[in-house]
Amino acid sequence: MEESEIKKLINMARNERLLAYSPYSGFSVGAALLCKNGEVICGCNIENASYGATNCAERTAVFKAISEGIKDFLAIAVVGGKSGEEPEDYAYPCGMCRQVLSEFCGSDFNVIVAKNTDDYKVYRLSELLPEAFKL
Ligand code: THU
Repeated sequence: MEESEIKKLINMARNERLLAYSPYSGFSVGAALLCKNGEVICGCNIENASYGATNCAERTAVFKAISEGIKDFLAIAVVGGKSGEEPEDYAYPCGMCRQVLSEFCGSDFNVIVAKNTDDYKVYRLSELLPEAFKL
């Protein structure tokens, strides 16, 4: 992926992070999902008083896209950290989000984890979830 495209996705994830609903953990995550048609669909984490009903940022983005009829994806950028602060670390997708991504994304799909536009890492989904479960 081109660096300018990566930075654009990170910026969109950073902005989306501001929309997170995370009063219980105080941890806000934004994700920006690049679709093959060029669209970028963003998602944030949405928590719930019944903690298990929480939805992660990555799954919010994927579910938004699928429900709009978009299901071909190239990459996702994820930015997360303590709400109201700049991220201190990379926020890696949790196991459940990796599994959901593997349902819709090829093994060459790029996962970008970023602290900011100048500090990021790029992985293949197959690196983060080798031997994914599929039916
Ligand atoms: N979270 C995400 O949004 N994505 C992940 O991949 C890991 C965790 C959210 C869920 C919860 O709202 C908060 O981060 C703390 O776990």
